[in-house]
Amino acid sequence: MDFGLPSPAAKEDSYWWEKAVLVFVMIVYMIFPLVAFINRRQRHAQSRVSDAMRECENCSVDLAHSLVPEAALPEYRFRGMRLKMSAIHVGFDNVGVKLKSNGRCILEGVTGAFRPRKMAAIMGPSGAGKTTFMNAICGRAYYGTVSGEIRINGHVSSIAEIKELRGFVPQDDIVHEHLTVREQLYYSARLRNRDKTPARVIDYIVEDVLNVMHLTDVQHSIVGNVEETRGISGGQRKRVNIGLELAARPTILMLDEPTSGLDATTALDIMRSLKTLSEIGMTVVMVVHQPRYSLFTLFDEVLLLGLGGQTVYLGNSRGVLPYFTSLNFNMPEHENPADWFMDVISGKVKNEANPNLKSDGLAEVWAQRFTEIVVESGEESQVRRAELFTFSKALAAKLAGAGLDSDTITEENFLKLLEESGVQEPSSDALRELKARIGFEGNSVSREQLSSFLYGLNNAFSSDALSDIANVQKEMEASEASASTVGSVKVSQEKMSGKRARLCAQYPVLLHQNIIRWMRLWKHKAFSLALMSLAAIVFGIQCKDKLTPENVLCPIKINISHVAIGLLMGIACLPIFGSDRMVFWRESASGIRVSAFFLSRVTVFLFDVLVWTYVFTAVWKVSSEAPCGYWLWLVALRMTAVSAAGIGVLISTLIPKSGSTLATAVVLLIMGGAISEPQVVAEAKGSFNEVLAFLSPFTWTSGQNYLAVIAEFGGEDYVNIFALDMMDGYRNVLLSINLGGQNLDYLPAAYISCSIFGVLGLTFGYLGLRFSHRGKQA
Ligand SMILES: Nc1ncnc2c1ncn2[C@@H]1O[C@H](COP(=O)(O)OP(=O)(O)OP(=O)(O)O)[C@@H](O)[C@H]1O
Ligand SMILES: [Mg+2]
Repeated sequence: MDFGLPSPAAKEDSYWWEKAVLVFVMIVYMIFPLVAFINRRQRHAQSRVSDAMRECENCSVDLAHSLVPEAALPEYRFRGMRLKMSAIHVGFDNVGVKLKSNGRCILEGVTGAFRPRKMAAIMGPSGAGKTTFMNAICGRAYYGTVSGEIRINGHVSSIAEIKELRGFVPQDDIVHEHLTVREQLYYSARLRNRDKTPARVIDYIVEDVLNVMHLTDVQHSIVGNVEETRGISGGQRKRVNIGLELAARPTILMLDEPTSGLDATTALDIMRSLKTLSEIGMTVVMVVHQPRYSLFTLFDEVLLLGLGGQTVYLGNSRGVLPYFTSLNFNMPEHENPADWFMDVISGKVKNEANPNLKSDGLAEVWAQRFTEIVVESGEESQVRRAELFTFSKALAAKLAGAGLDSDTITEENFLKLLEESGVQEPSSDALRELKARIGFEGNSVSREQLSSFLYGLNNAFSSDALSDIANVQKEMEASEASASTVGSVKVSQEKMSGKRARLCAQYPVLLHQNIIRWMRLWKHKAFSLALMSLAAIVFGIQCKDKLTPENVLCPIKINISHVAIGLLMGIACLPIFGSDRMVFWRESASGIRVSAFFLSRVTVFLFDVLVWTYVFTAVWKVSSEAPCGYWLWLVALRMTAVSAAGIGVLISTLIPKSGSTLATAVVLLIMGGAISEPQVVAEAKGSFNEVLAFLSPFTWTSGQNYLAVIAEFGGEDYVNIFALDMMDGYRNVLLSINLGGQNLDYLPAAYISCSIFGVLGLTFGYLGLRFSHRGKQA
């Protein structure tokens, strides 16, 4: 039998390639911290820019207020957010959901619409079907059969079909725990805005989200988790959860209980921020739980669902109280109306005048009346217009009074104006920013420009924002026209939001994200390395003096060492996807490409696997005083490490975290055990054992390792009579797929098996990620 055993002399030369790979891996390992270091430097620079922008903003508002104290300027002016073509009108007719598992109807006959640029609430008692309804219109109710009709701008469709225009904030806070608040928003903005969005616009978007969600103070804090690093507070986490979607500048934002668990003040803060966004063009729909009345009235529209998932009311938020009062329900004094509505819907409020009207009859009553009570306040916009006029007049007078009626204002005069107005002198960075925004050319600016800058503070958008407001305005008008023509035009995501980044654009961004994450986990990595070294010492000592071909235990000891490294690597690779399955589902649902997500994570982990293998092999070889060169063992053990890592990746994508460790251990032990007694395998021709041995990577890794050791010692003649039996076993397994006679050299055979098992594991892992839990990725 010819094993194709290579001659030892030829082998020494063939390892030059291995040495080159080692150098490459080490260089990459040094690049990782470098990337993290640069990121840290950038963070400091961004901090300075961010502070300057805020100071500049405060300074200009203070100046405007000192000139026109009565001016009601918006709290914040957007720079990166742009007016979206928010004419997304969602109509739903008779929407119902039946559970696939038992056919139970959990939602029934919900009819109505969410109008563009409005903030709508879905409310109802617990279990009424609010989440189900939201999932149904978003195409995420994978657990049920959805009936009825959903129309987007009049076209029968689902929000899932306009995935790239939609933001969905899940009820649970699914965030990257090892990134800072700013980093999370940055990556979300980079990955989810149209391809080739300029870097400055991305920075402005992040700045906008930080400001609107009141996160600027914690922008550089790690999000953390309760178990390990305590990061930001629960309320801040919720805001990050919402901010991640805002960074994508969605046209329609759906939120499932964004304020539950928060105190009333924080909830109101978040709600006001969302209201601001709806005012600049976003359609906001959310499920809320018993808000206080001041918060409740922020909503333009309210959909009330009764038990059993039927519509009890849909319309203006200020109209709910008059509606229930008109049905002769009487609200006690000092009661929070929003709480009382829930009591009415749940049947806890008696109707004195009409005792027959119970909670289960409310849906029927609504269906018959079907008229909302509209309480419109039309004065608001008129007040605003009058304010703008007063502002511009008062400003001109004040400027003239301050002796700045000359047409050109120098920097010196401007600083004097600030001083006289009692505005704190800005720092040099903020002054530079302020001058740029006002439009200083060199050292001077025209009076008109200053006036128009201050006047522009009244706007929801910063006047110098890069965003193409004018263009978007035009697009909006076009879209509005389409929305009003019911049933005519299908929404074109591409036209409205532009194309999302492709794999080649998303991959580097995600790779950068994973490198930053990798650095933050360095303690875990160091601990893993220490544990692996410990295992290498223990297994190494057990192999001492037994690794020569004459020794009968040699193949077994080699095999056990392979099983050890396989188990270590398989389990160490589980967190690649296991710990972040929820994050993955959210990102995949939001349009991030599965391939980019998968490849970026695997790339970073692959280097870990390689480095761990170098260290394990070195420690094991020293402790076992193994014969032959380091590279011979490395090549063999690495085959096992890569194959086991592939199996770990596959399992982590398919099995939840709670069971994946055990599953990996079992799979790898079975595979390792399959070849532990190869002579048995050899004798059991055509048996289950033989099939298992053929499928097990260990057959190819530890088997070839043994053959390579024999070759190093000079060939089969050196094999102990007992070990010869085992060798026959390997030979037979190899022969079973006609590999034994292929005369493959050790290295090519090793590389081939390593690649085949590694690539197979990763491919199945990718497919597992892509095709398992499809509903959660919708
Ligand atoms: N996947 C599912 N499998 C089985 N039953 C479900 C499933 N999803 C929802 N239900 C059932 O459907 C009903 C409505 O659930 P849903 O989660 O929509 O209620 P909700 O109004 O959002 O409640 P809460 O306010 O407590 O979040 C409940 O009775 C719930 O048990
Ligand atoms: Mg719910």
